[in-house]
Amino acid sequence: MDYQKIIDELHQKYKNEDNIGKVASYIPELKKINPNKLGICLLTLSCESYGAGDYQEKFSIQSISKVFALTYALIKVGDEIWKRIGVEPSGDPFNSLVQLEFEKGIPRNPFINSGALVVCDILISKLKNPKLELLNFVRKLANTKDIYFNEKVVASEKSHGFTNAAHVNLMKSFGNIKNDVDVVLDFYYHMCSIEMSCEELAKSFMIFANDGVLKYNNEKIISLGISKRINATMQLCGHYDEAGEFAFRVGLPGKSGVGGGIVAVHPDLYCIATWSPKLNNKGNSYLGFKVLESFTTITKASIF
Ligand code: DON
Repeated sequence: MDYQKIIDELHQKYKNEDNIGKVASYIPELKKINPNKLGICLLTLSCESYGAGDYQEKFSIQSISKVFALTYALIKVGDEIWKRIGVEPSGDPFNSLVQLEFEKGIPRNPFINSGALVVCDILISKLKNPKLELLNFVRKLANTKDIYFNEKVVASEKSHGFTNAAHVNLMKSFGNIKNDVDVVLDFYYHMCSIEMSCEELAKSFMIFANDGVLKYNNEKIISLGISKRINATMQLCGHYDEAGEFAFRVGLPGKSGVGGGIVAVHPDLYCIATWSPKLNNKGNSYLGFKVLESFTTITKASIF
């Protein structure tokens, strides 16, 4: 299959398509991005790499970082974390508070904001320097030192993060946050502000396609069990109240972020990352969704 041709044609087609999405504006700093960016990067298990458009340009990975944090927490703490976070799809928006009170401060899953905040709390309790250690973990997965937080995005989120503050405070009242709420929020905002390109994201998610092993040096990072769980959680919860639609149309485990990125994994075959900043009404990239749906349709390579 000529993957480069497929990726180029998808880029060409969607670059010119009417994009009815909207750039995230509830974090003012994210609004500054050029809305017309479109990047696609595909890495196969046989180490072939294909890219089109803005695939080497860094952007705010936002909620995609929740996958890195969950992976790191499973490495450092193990299955204990599931006492404090569920694994069920929420069927609600990523920042919804509705279930959290009924369910006594236990978030439905690690990818909604409340779940990721508990993962942050767990990492803070476990690590000496959580921000640097998480960043270094991501750098190792992506095989580059050139990955940083964006402090302007951190400040922007902090000054508009009333709902996230409500989540942490509510969970603290139920005893499911152990550290100071401001420390948890600060770590969470840093994690969300990480900037990476489609190429770096595809590289760093390859462990989930490759049984937990880094492609570039064959180092085993996570067990098969952790890899299975992360893929399952991405499949069911990676796109919030659009996870069913993503499975239905794309058919791969994946994770989105409000910066417009989506990463999807086909275990044992490939990893693909897209970036287009305009989002649909569920907070997922409007064009990224379409590119991925077309890709798995043309290549007939979804997991279903
Ligand atoms: O906390 C927030 O709302 C953002 N930092 C992350 C949200 C996000 O990326 C949801 N994904 N689609």
